Amino acid sequence: MKFSYYGHACFGVECEGKQVLFDPFISGNPLAKDIDIDAIPADYIFLSHGHVDHIYDCERIATRTGAKIVCNWEIHEWLGRKGLANTHPMNTGGKWAFEFGTVKTTAAQHSSGLPDGSYGGNPMGFIFKTGKRSFYYSGDTALTLDMQLIPSFAVPDFAIMPIGDNFTMGVEDAARAAQYINCRTIIGVHYNTFGFITIDTAQAQDYFSRHGLELLLPGIGATIEV
Ligand code: NI
Ligand code: MN
Repeated sequence: MKFSYYGHACFGVECEGKQVLFDPFISGNPLAKDIDIDAIPADYIFLSHGHVDHIYDCERIATRTGAKIVCNWEIHEWLGRKGLANTHPMNTGGKWAFEFGTVKTTAAQHSSGLPDGSYGGNPMGFIFKTGKRSFYYSGDTALTLDMQLIPSFAVPDFAIMPIGDNFTMGVEDAARAAQYINCRTIIGVHYNTFGFITIDTAQAQDYFSRHGLELLLPGIGATIEV
């Protein structure tokens, strides 16, 4: 599958010919200044939670592309009040068969308040089971024992997880999460964007390889095959 990284926790995955974008936050990220936000393809936009560093550019990209936004119930209502009607509300633990595959939402241990102070419901992660491959995006979360349930739905071929620590899992917890979900290929996100989440990437990759895991850190703007 083609994975494109747009910085922070924003990335796109091509699923069965559909462009699925996650947690759009580009114009607020100085590290992503070379990304042309108005050229990012999207048939779907998945939002893990309501924090500004995950939804800042959602309205702009959804308006341009007409992408369907998949998010929790409260964010769906909030977007509806802004006039964004092409949404699909879900909530934790539910699954839905989309045209590109089935997505099951998972618990994330985090918070989800919206930028204007509105209640943003509960944060979520997503397990994608498509024809070719399965993958897991944890969203912003702590390490939880619940992650051990993920392979009972689908064993991920790769997983996208935060590694920046302070607000989410750090490197050591993400490596343990990889073991919980039976997945050795992890794409790290949510690091180095701002001061609280600055990490030593060489040390992080070394930690993963010493634990029999692979930590992929594609550059901002890069597309890789996973
Ligand atoms: Ni967050
Ligand atoms: Mn975040």
